[in-house]
Amino acid sequence: MFFGSHAALVVVCIVAFFDVVAQANDDLRWVPFDRQQFNGSVALDTNADVQLYWKIGEEYSTFGIASRSSGYLAVGFSQTGAMTGADIAVGYTDQDGVFSFENRHASGFVTPEVSQDQEGNMRFKEGYQADGVTAFIFEKKNKASCLETQADVAVTSWQWMIYAFSQDNSFSQHGPGENGKKYVRLGNGKVISTLDTPAMPGTRNWTITQPEVMIPTAETTYCYSLHKVPVANKNFLLAERPTQSSPLLHHLVVYACYGMPQGLKEMEGKQPNCEWETFSNPCSGFVTEWAPGMSGRTFEPGYGKPFGSELYEYVMFETHYNNPEGLEGEKDAASYTFLYNDIPVETEIGTLTLGDLQVTGWFLEPGKELVPHSTVCTPECTRKWPSEGITAVSVFHHMHYRGRNTKVQIIRNGTEISSLSSLRDFEYGYQFSKSLDEIKLLPGDKFITTCEYDTSKDTEPVPGGLSSQEEMCFAWVDYYPANDVLACTQFDLGSAAENQINGTVAVCMESTAEAPDVVPSAYLNSTFESLPVTGDNCPAASSPGSNPPGSSDEAAVLSTCPETEVCFSIHVPRESASSGSGDIYLQLSAPTTYSWVALAQGTTMTNANMFLMYSSADGTNVTLSPRNAPEHSMPTRNDAANVSLLEGSGISDGRMTANFRCSNCHEWSSGGMSFASDSSDWLYAYRQGPSIVSDDTNAAISIHDRHGVFQWNLSRATGGSKLNPFTGAAGNTTSNSPASVSGWERLSATVRRRFVQAHGALAAVAFVAIFPTGALLIFGYTVFVAAAGLGIFMASSSDRLQEPHAIIGMVLLAVFFFMPFVGVVHHKVFGKVHKRTWWSYSHIFVGRFGVLLGMINGGLGLQLADAGRSPKIAYGVLGGLMGVVYCGVVFFGEIRRGKTLPRNVATVSKPKQLGPDDSDRAASPERRLP
Ligand SMILES: *[C@@H]1O[C@H](CO)[C@@H](O)[C@H](O)[C@H]1NC(C)=O
Ligand SMILES: *[C@@H]1O[C@H](CO)[C@@H](O)[C@H](O)[C@H]1NC(C)=O
Ligand SMILES: *[C@@H]1O[C@H](CO)[C@@H](O)[C@H](O)[C@H]1NC(C)=O
Ligand SMILES: *[C@@H]1O[C@H](CO)[C@@H](O)[C@H](O)[C@H]1NC(C)=O
Ligand SMILES: *[C@@H]1O[C@H](CO)[C@@H](O)[C@H](O)[C@H]1NC(C)=O
Ligand SMILES: *[C@@H]1O[C@H](CO)[C@@H](O)[C@H](O)[C@H]1NC(C)=O
Repeated sequence: MFFGSHAALVVVCIVAFFDVVAQANDDLRWVPFDRQQFNGSVALDTNADVQLYWKIGEEYSTFGIASRSSGYLAVGFSQTGAMTGADIAVGYTDQDGVFSFENRHASGFVTPEVSQDQEGNMRFKEGYQADGVTAFIFEKKNKASCLETQADVAVTSWQWMIYAFSQDNSFSQHGPGENGKKYVRLGNGKVISTLDTPAMPGTRNWTITQPEVMIPTAETTYCYSLHKVPVANKNFLLAERPTQSSPLLHHLVVYACYGMPQGLKEMEGKQPNCEWETFSNPCSGFVTEWAPGMSGRTFEPGYGKPFGSELYEYVMFETHYNNPEGLEGEKDAASYTFLYNDIPVETEIGTLTLGDLQVTGWFLEPGKELVPHSTVCTPECTRKWPSEGITAVSVFHHMHYRGRNTKVQIIRNGTEISSLSSLRDFEYGYQFSKSLDEIKLLPGDKFITTCEYDTSKDTEPVPGGLSSQEEMCFAWVDYYPANDVLACTQFDLGSAAENQINGTVAVCMESTAEAPDVVPSAYLNSTFESLPVTGDNCPAASSPGSNPPGSSDEAAVLSTCPETEVCFSIHVPRESASSGSGDIYLQLSAPTTYSWVALAQGTTMTNANMFLMYSSADGTNVTLSPRNAPEHSMPTRNDAANVSLLEGSGISDGRMTANFRCSNCHEWSSGGMSFASDSSDWLYAYRQGPSIVSDDTNAAISIHDRHGVFQWNLSRATGGSKLNPFTGAAGNTTSNSPASVSGWERLSATVRRRFVQAHGALAAVAFVAIFPTGALLIFGYTVFVAAAGLGIFMASSSDRLQEPHAIIGMVLLAVFFFMPFVGVVHHKVFGKVHKRTWWSYSHIFVGRFGVLLGMINGGLGLQLADAGRSPKIAYGVLGGLMGVVYCGVVFFGEIRRGKTLPRNVATVSKPKQLGPDDSDRAASPERRLP
């Protein structure tokens, strides 16, 4: 019996060791397909629960996607990281348990439609759904036949990948935290900047902070402040880190001031100048821009953007505030951080401004779905480049809300060559610095920058202008090696008596010149031979919105989550759509970490028909508060609204949901909505923070953190006979007791993380550091009990008590809890009989198994907590080492004990030489216990 348990202990030791090491090495055993067939992979989410694999091919590339979820799984190729325009592969299991695959495309932030082409663009290879994992492999055509509904694959450079999954197979709106985006480098093309923001030792940081301004209530405000750059002849910008600022900040630009005009320096250190209609910014070099959706950016080693007294010593910091609701009392001190040093880089990066620098004076035709606006950069300017040319590495496209598509064509010697950049389905909230696959540009090249706008909602010509209601068209191109040319474009000088030249001229700005070079140019109008159009091979008529799987006569529900966690849905009964009035059904859903969430019909807060949701007084249901907002003040209750809260509303699983019917939403005091509209305007707003907890439909609310707009094609929400379409899945809301909500989910993510960290740290200290050494056992015991207490609190309040980690933890707690008592008996009995008794063996071996089990359980815990790779590896190595040492000591301790004390010889003969600890040196947990 003794040898038996002895051997078992050794086996457990070995298994445990390999398990810990294997876990550290391969976190991805759960991916069900053969990963060897791919040559690229990346985790799309931060928890590494959604894994993308790819292998780029000639005509088709192969992609594998795997998610630790048990419902539909979607992965899309997007131009901007937004859903709009994305070409999406969807896999799910149908009612008969068969894995199904579809190619869908998204026309906006709406349920993607099934694509007409189910064969050519994407080809399904294999699919799996089992054991909490959904995965599939498909091929995607690199060059799309029809760009209207499909996308090209960026085979050499960076591709935005979006994903969504669900825990069930009904193809409904993805839940919170179940979608995301990632800019993935699919190819091996050279790139010089990444959107990652690693720590950068050896750099200094330069933060430009605009002195705080009170944001005016006017819709559009630009503010300008002048800042001196860190002193040096030449420094190099290596990385950029935007900082969170006011939600009213629409974008910011940092301009380099070359050739400082008289008197400008006086602006330094002063309050920002927000008299933008009269102030003309003389600084024209482009350094950087931030717009909604942008993260930080880091240049690859060896690259940097030079600045300093050799180039420019001042920058103009331009902030654009957009305050359509005329909010009062909003302040902002916008800031932006650059990481830099003065160590010369191998390659200096410059920025070339293309697009319409003549911000005003042009107009877009109203009432059209696509209105183009182009500007030309002529060879007169590009001939100033060094003869070997330059290499473009990234481009930042900028338009305002009407922007749809944009491109920069290259005309070389009268012929168009493949474009510098082309971006379809621009989204204002998803702007980014687009990586290019190193594009060589030559002196004498001509560039045509075109922006396309949707003016279908406008009745008046849309002017170019600074305001977000007006439009812009820019392409800022980063390239190397840096040269003096800052901007290349055209201006319309009109005709005036004092003009030296009339009409449209070519404009070239150089950092070394006092004034831009302005010349008449034949290239502004010379024709060119264009490339054959690709991706234009679309089927004659695309079928209007096929039904999602399993939704034959169910009410059509249109959903959108404009922010990851905040979702809105709508259903329009057929009768209401055809009569233009009557009931519609709406759903608002958001985590309880939001103080309030609002959905509104309309285009601005002042003309909107608003519906607010917040927690009710008893915390189990929500209060639905219809409101409207008189100019510049807090929205107040709208008594005219005819709404009723429906079944399925409530608070559960950390989310609040309001399902309601609105019976007079076709018109309200300041506006109306057609239920047949294919582009109805909606607004949303929310505030995160403590719950309001009130039944008062007129409760005071604090100003929103963020707001936004979106459009719903209501024809897609029309159909079906169901009255309240939001019961069912969302309707079973009462299953969780409010107590569990207030326990875990209500804690902020940071606090939750701290709890997890504290639990992990305590348990690791107990099992890896204290118990095995046998020292300070009382302390180890206390530490473990504390860890276990935290663990039980977390597991019970987040419904994870059935997890293996939790079960093992509780078994360990039970075992160790009685350990000291068993230990006392062991020592008492040992003291009497001077040999190990049943008490001793149970005490010693249960203790040892317990310690090893604890070490292994640490690994399971890291898994459960979705810990990153490095903690797992660190724990694997440390825990594994400690495990081996521990096993070794126990093993050799036993062997030695076996030698000095043959088991079949009574120990009574030399009792006094054997301390009770002899066999247990450095081994058993009970050593120092009483
Ligand atoms: C800038 O430097 C300070 C102090 O060294 C540091 O705390 C801060 O995080 C840095 N900021 C950025 C964006 O790196
Ligand atoms: C344009 O064509 C001319 C004459 O054919 C040739 O000399 C020149 O190198 C070409 N330029 C470029 C940029 O290809
Ligand atoms: C430009 O046009 C104006 C008005 O038509 C005219 O008076 C002026 O002489 C023109 N200038 C040149 C350089 O042609
Ligand atoms: C360019 O050509 C168009 C017609 O093809 C004409 O309307 C326009 O005035 C021309 N522009 C210039 C600057 O010559
Ligand atoms: C919330 O209130 C609505 C309307 O009174 C009701 O239908 C729903 O069942 C309530 N939800 C809960 C969880 O009590
Ligand atoms: C939700 O409730 C409905 C009706 O009460 C029931 O049929 C359904 O099985 C429930 N779903 C779940 C997941 O509990």
